[in-house]
Amino acid sequence: MNATPNALFDDWNDAPAPSASASSHAVPAAPQVANAHTAPAPLAPVKAADKRIVNGQGDINQLAPFKYPWAWEFFLTANRNHWTPTEINMAQDVQDYHHKLTPAERHLFENVLAYLTTSDILAMRNIGLAVMEKMTAPELQIYQARQVFEEALHTWTYQHCIETLNLDQEDIYNRYRVVPAIHGKIALANRRLEKVLRSDLDLTDRETLHEFALSYLFFAGIFEGCWFYNGFSPIFALQRRGLMKGTAEQFQYIMRDEVLHCAFGIRVIRELLQEEKLQLDPTAVADLWQEADVAESAYAHYILQEPILGYSAELHLGQFRFVANRRARQLGLEEPFPGATATLPWLDEQANLRKEKNFFETRVTEYQTGGSLVWE
Ligand SMILES: [Fe+2]
Ligand SMILES: [Fe+2]
Repeated sequence: MNATPNALFDDWNDAPAPSASASSHAVPAAPQVANAHTAPAPLAPVKAADKRIVNGQGDINQLAPFKYPWAWEFFLTANRNHWTPTEINMAQDVQDYHHKLTPAERHLFENVLAYLTTSDILAMRNIGLAVMEKMTAPELQIYQARQVFEEALHTWTYQHCIETLNLDQEDIYNRYRVVPAIHGKIALANRRLEKVLRSDLDLTDRETLHEFALSYLFFAGIFEGCWFYNGFSPIFALQRRGLMKGTAEQFQYIMRDEVLHCAFGIRVIRELLQEEKLQLDPTAVADLWQEADVAESAYAHYILQEPILGYSAELHLGQFRFVANRRARQLGLEEPFPGATATLPWLDEQANLRKEKNFFETRVTEYQTGGSLVWE
């Protein structure tokens, strides 16, 4: 029988290593072994109080003692929240998408999916490449490592939906490039990311530190806290009418992760500002909200060129502004949209829905409202 290499097990036939005589390279000299007399002096123990969000000088390889025990709690909570997209039944969605959705609903569904899938790759790159390596306490990095994985899981989820519904992948994945209203949100996020992507960013420089704090604030507070949080709403609106329930359930799991990502990021930013005695420039923050609002408005009016039953561009934008105010309060900032009211009051119920999965039956068996997340 021909054995198929299986990456899960270390039983594949490795190619034989070239013999030393066949190699044209010289055999490297054996490393020198330090003897007992030249061993390095023991290091001083790590003290929690010496840890810093950024610019710390301590040992990044030592998890405890914790200075930020809440970060470790986030990691444990995230690990109680695991699922994979193949566990959710999508059969009815295939029927709904091809036979029940109106053209306006299909337009909405496809473009929401197109925006979200690009966004999650961007979110993964941001946290993994721009943020995590700047952190100087391991308990922060460990949660962020989990977050990187979750963003990849979200991308898998969208791809699973796209494949299950047999959508044209080239079309869906290119929409963010060819549709200006989708491109606008992604381009704005890319600009923020690129400003802080460099690994040699000097965060002891106050201006650079300010730019980094603004960028993290944008990603946690707006990109995840508003655009993702409210980004699933159009699909939940279909779900409320009994349509696309499998996709909506997938998005509920993603939303539960995003609620944690946002809460964690906001906590980090608040502590960072306190530790570094950094004040955000109110004009720069106001610009951030303003840019986000303009981009969101263009997006809402594109995906909802015509309203669908129970959902419209105005409702979407109203809820964005209402949630933006909440994020600003959580960040200790002034509300950017005073007087905005909840236009989709059912959205917070979705966010706080605790779903316990029975993995033996691979379906949701228990719903419990009111999670452990306290927002205000
Ligand atoms: Fe995500
Ligand atoms: Fe996220």
